[in-house]
Amino acid sequence: MSALYDEFKNYSENDLYPCHMPGHKRHALGAMPENFASIDFTEVDSLDDLHDPEGIILESEKNAAQVLGADASYFLVNGSTAGILAAVCASVKRNGKLLIVRGSHRSAYNAVYLRGIRPAYIHTKGPDEDGIYDAASAEDVRKALDENPDTEAVFIVSPTYEGRMSDIASIAEAVHARNIPLIVDEAHGAHLSFTKGCASDAIRNGADIVIQSIHKTLPAPTQTAVLSVKGNLADKEEIRRFLSIYQSSSPSYPLMSMIDGCIRYMSENSEKLVQNLHDNFENLLKRLEVCDKLICGPKIADLQSGKADYGKLVISARNTCISGKEIADILRDRYRIETEMAAPGFVLAMFTVCDEAYGFDKVAGALIDLNTRLEKYGLLAEDGEKPVDISTPLPTPVIRMPYSEAVDAESDVVSLSESAGRISSNIICLYPPGTPIVAPGEEIAPEHVTLIDKCIKAGFNIKGLEGVGIKVVKNG
Ligand SMILES: Cc1ncc(COP(=O)(O)O)c(C=O)c1O
Repeated sequence: MSALYDEFKNYSENDLYPCHMPGHKRHALGAMPENFASIDFTEVDSLDDLHDPEGIILESEKNAAQVLGADASYFLVNGSTAGILAAVCASVKRNGKLLIVRGSHRSAYNAVYLRGIRPAYIHTKGPDEDGIYDAASAEDVRKALDENPDTEAVFIVSPTYEGRMSDIASIAEAVHARNIPLIVDEAHGAHLSFTKGCASDAIRNGADIVIQSIHKTLPAPTQTAVLSVKGNLADKEEIRRFLSIYQSSSPSYPLMSMIDGCIRYMSENSEKLVQNLHDNFENLLKRLEVCDKLICGPKIADLQSGKADYGKLVISARNTCISGKEIADILRDRYRIETEMAAPGFVLAMFTVCDEAYGFDKVAGALIDLNTRLEKYGLLAEDGEKPVDISTPLPTPVIRMPYSEAVDAESDVVSLSESAGRISSNIICLYPPGTPIVAPGEEIAPEHVTLIDKCIKAGFNIKGLEGVGIKVVKNG
């Protein structure tokens, strides 16, 4: 047996409850094969070819499109990452302009780099007192479009990692008024395709290209995802061409079979599964209303009005003197719950259609208990000061050089204190959540330096640094 297999198997036998991805929560629902090797093929006769499908793979993709409400769907075996790279590259010409939500996933930024795109940003409302930004609104998008009339495509994220959702129809209307495509990174929202009447189900509400990680919220294994298109603004041939560039030339047959299996399973069982998730999640939030110090969200009204996603529980650190990371450590060590993500201001616990009542009970019990103990443990806000105020908005980026040129330019590594006024060659972000503090080609402002310094001193994970220095454009 492999050393990795042994390690993973050992880990799977621990008593931690998984409030994190993948969405199957280790239940073999749908079409998860017991014997992996028996269906691990290559493009032999009759088994079709993902890069040029004409037979059973094409039929399965057509079935997926019909279930998801799309004109065409493409299976992704390299996650949403491959779909986002392909969608952006297929929609914007080299040197063209993309309007992109500032808090986008790094795959969208990588597409900007690879295609030599000029990004312009949609700034969404936030950060709130936990450090969380809203999903894009139609107003945010309209404002950015007015300032950037040469935009070739718009890229938004909905739901966000923290479960905020956009009103897709009104955004699509604003984007289509310019006759350009709307790309929605719905990596965290594959379940929305199975939620009847959902205003954030992007493909059914006017988006042109939608990318969904089915592995994040549905019963499907890691790396499985789907890209769907609708209407005439998406260039299907270019999307296929770029998918062939960004996906493996040996796509996994077991993964393809499980994408197909997951979609068929959900199309037959989603009504009950989604209803269970909604009931259990609302019930959890009702039980957590007794937590007067450890505030948990979203609000039930925001779930019901479609602003927030069923499944993303945000546990705020705002009334405590510790960070989200420390709360996540307590949840793991004391209550045996592994969460999805811990940011300075909050912890995110994820529930999917595969969670059972037991999981919701365990989390409710743990948080109610921890809420009563915060005072005794000396963890309340008045017991100590927070090292970083994460609710301060970042300065508006000043772009001094094209993004890709700044990444490829000759560079120097300078100390943080020497970096103010220089042009960054890297994305520098606090991770999680991953919104760039500064992106390649942008001037590093004194406020950036202060924030990065405070985050480092507080022990937060700042990505994009070179040791303790910053990579900047030489002579820039
Ligand atoms: C918002 C967002 N988009 C895209 C991705 C990439 O998805 P995948 O892991 O399926 O490649 C992620 C991954 O975490 C994400 O959070």
